[in-house]
Amino acid sequence: MALIKACDLADLEEGEILKADLEGQPSIALYRIDGEVFATHDTCTHGEASLSEDGYIEDGQVICSWHDGAFDIRTGQPCRLPCMDPILTFPIEIRDGEVFIDL
Ligand code: FES
Repeated sequence: MALIKACDLADLEEGEILKADLEGQPSIALYRIDGEVFATHDTCTHGEASLSEDGYIEDGQVICSWHDGAFDIRTGQPCRLPCMDPILTFPIEIRDGEVFIDL
C-alpha cells in the first residue's frame, strides 16, 4: 500500500475533475461525485486525451470529449464506444481534509 497525497479535499469541487501530477507516476484524474472522491488514470484508453482537461462528468461517467467515449468513474469500465478498454481506478483515502491515492 503506497498512499500519496494528491490534493486537499477543498481543492476538489463537486462535479469537477482535477488532474493530480504525482512525481514519477502517470497523471491521475480525481473526481468528486455526491461528496465522494474517485481516482482514475488521466489518459483516455482510446486516444491520448486527458480526461481532466478534455472530459466532463455526467451521470457517474466521465465523458471524453475527443470522440464522445465514456467510462464509469467508479469502476473504470468503458460505457460507450469508441472506448473499449477500461481505465485504471485507484482507492482513495481522506484524512484530515487531505486526499490520498493508494497506488
Ligand atoms: S480519445 Fe477519448 S474517446 Fe477518443
